[in-house]
Amino acid sequence: MQLIDGKATAMAIKQEIAQRVKEIVANGGKQPHLAAILVGHDGGSETYVAAKVKACGECGFKSSLIRFDSDVTEEDLLNKVQELNDDPDVDGFIVQLPLPRHISEQKVIEAIDYRKDVDGFHPINVGRMAIGLPAFISATPRGILELLRRYNIETSGKKCVILGRSNIVGKPMAQLMMQKQFGDATVTVCHSRSKTLKEECQEADIIIAAIGQPGFVTADMVKEGATVIDVGTTRVPDATKKSGFRLSGDVKFDEVAPKCAYITPVPGGVGPMTICSLMQNTLLAGERAIYK
Ligand code: GUN
Repeated sequence: MQLIDGKATAMAIKQEIAQRVKEIVANGGKQPHLAAILVGHDGGSETYVAAKVKACGECGFKSSLIRFDSDVTEEDLLNKVQELNDDPDVDGFIVQLPLPRHISEQKVIEAIDYRKDVDGFHPINVGRMAIGLPAFISATPRGILELLRRYNIETSGKKCVILGRSNIVGKPMAQLMMQKQFGDATVTVCHSRSKTLKEECQEADIIIAAIGQPGFVTADMVKEGATVIDVGTTRVPDATKKSGFRLSGDVKFDEVAPKCAYITPVPGGVGPMTICSLMQNTLLAGERAIYK
């Protein structure tokens, strides 16, 4: 069994990005610039955005954090989105989700210029990705593809089962794993209503678990020699931790790991790769590598 080290991989990628930024600047180009809009003070969002700003520093990017109180109007938020769309110095930006209930997330996402949508949430990016055109690919699926590639895990022609059908993980992951230029695999998507979920998993060469139920994938569901990617990050109370919680994956790691060829831990697997993917997309945005 080989552990897939997302933390080390993410660090290596950030160093590669920083090297590229040095070259860009040495050749007279400008530092890539990522802006982030944060509404309110949700604990999780604060942590994620702080980590994104920190990662920008590690990559040699410029970053801007724009804060609004949670009672900001939808109109004011949309005006800020437009301002960032029009700002030639901003290469890419994100609006951290979730947003307060009085604001339509979809409306905000669709207001973002797709050429600056480094989260890859805009329907133009989602659609282009789905038909295999160059696009910003959302962070988690992009990070998982990168781990599979860097660990030389064969996916072509393999059976891949994806647990979960969310817009930000399950669905794009399925699209990418089936496409010739990415996974080139035979893909099955299972979800809470799937009757044959266990049997599908037992036949899978690769399982990507993204259902948000701690310990859902057990040893009896996994084939000997399978690769298991755990996307779960559920916060469960833990009095021994300073924060009062720990992160729990969708996989019962201790019993599943001995059966696997490769497995990602939680934390330290997929998690660190997601912010790294955002940095890769920001570099592409800065280089106008996808859209002119
Ligand atoms: N909230 C949780 N994950 C994400 C993400 O990848 N992007 C944004 N904008 N918000 C999030």
